[in-house]
Amino acid sequence: MLQKIKKCASYINERISIDTDTGIILGTGLGKLAEQIDIIHKIRYEDLPHFPISTVEGHNGQFIYGKLGDKLVIALQGRFHYYEGYSIEEVGFPVRVLKELGVNRLLISNAAGAMNPSYEVGDLVIIKDHINMFPTNPLIGKNHEELGPRFPDMSEAYDKEMIIEAQKIAKRENIDIHTGVYVGVSGPTYETPAEYKFFRIIGGDIVGMSTVPEVIVARHAGIKCFGISVVTDSGAPGKLKEISHSEVQRIGELSQPRMAEIFKKII
Ligand code: HPA
Repeated sequence: MLQKIKKCASYINERISIDTDTGIILGTGLGKLAEQIDIIHKIRYEDLPHFPISTVEGHNGQFIYGKLGDKLVIALQGRFHYYEGYSIEEVGFPVRVLKELGVNRLLISNAAGAMNPSYEVGDLVIIKDHINMFPTNPLIGKNHEELGPRFPDMSEAYDKEMIIEAQKIAKRENIDIHTGVYVGVSGPTYETPAEYKFFRIIGGDIVGMSTVPEVIVARHAGIKCFGISVVTDSGAPGKLKEISHSEVQRIGELSQPRMAEIFKKII
């Protein structure tokens, strides 16, 4: 694992002289942010040693280094989901590489279903905390002290300062936004009505199939995290409808301008 991280990071460092501490994982809602980045260098995932290759529809994998506004960023376009069959370590691998490249702030977006009855389809939600309902944890196994501690603290998984900043930006820009708890599940099934109800009872506002493994790895590595979800469907009583991946993507697309605005301003 350590060798793979170092090999992948050296491959990148040999080609790009990286001068930023900010990484972005361009999930649903942020795909088009890549178009706003003045690209200095990009590398296809398949060319990166030991990098998994993205398979899911609507994600094309590449490592991007460039300028967003006047800030340098690394953007990962395309992420790895546990439901695709990657091991949980593989899902977190890109975050390890980001750390090795000097990233200390990680911004993430995703699509999620809502349990909170006051959330509507198309709404944005700042993630203030998460509940790991994946059947595993990316830190299971031998701990490498050089990567982080055996028992990492998770009392502030999502950086309070960035949450407050995002709330201020949203207010200033007249963007309605909630702040809620994200439940991370393996998928690939969407939830049954009973599961949405359960996730509400245990304290969740939204549910999705990503982010939690990446944030766990990032916190292990001491990286500050920030995330926004776009609500693509609702599982709240009376609001639950049949959903499909294409509908999730369509709603995700609609949120792009608002999502991108907040991310750009935070960075
Ligand atoms: N559940 C899980 N993941 C999701 C959902 C959902 O309802 N919507 C988008 N991603």
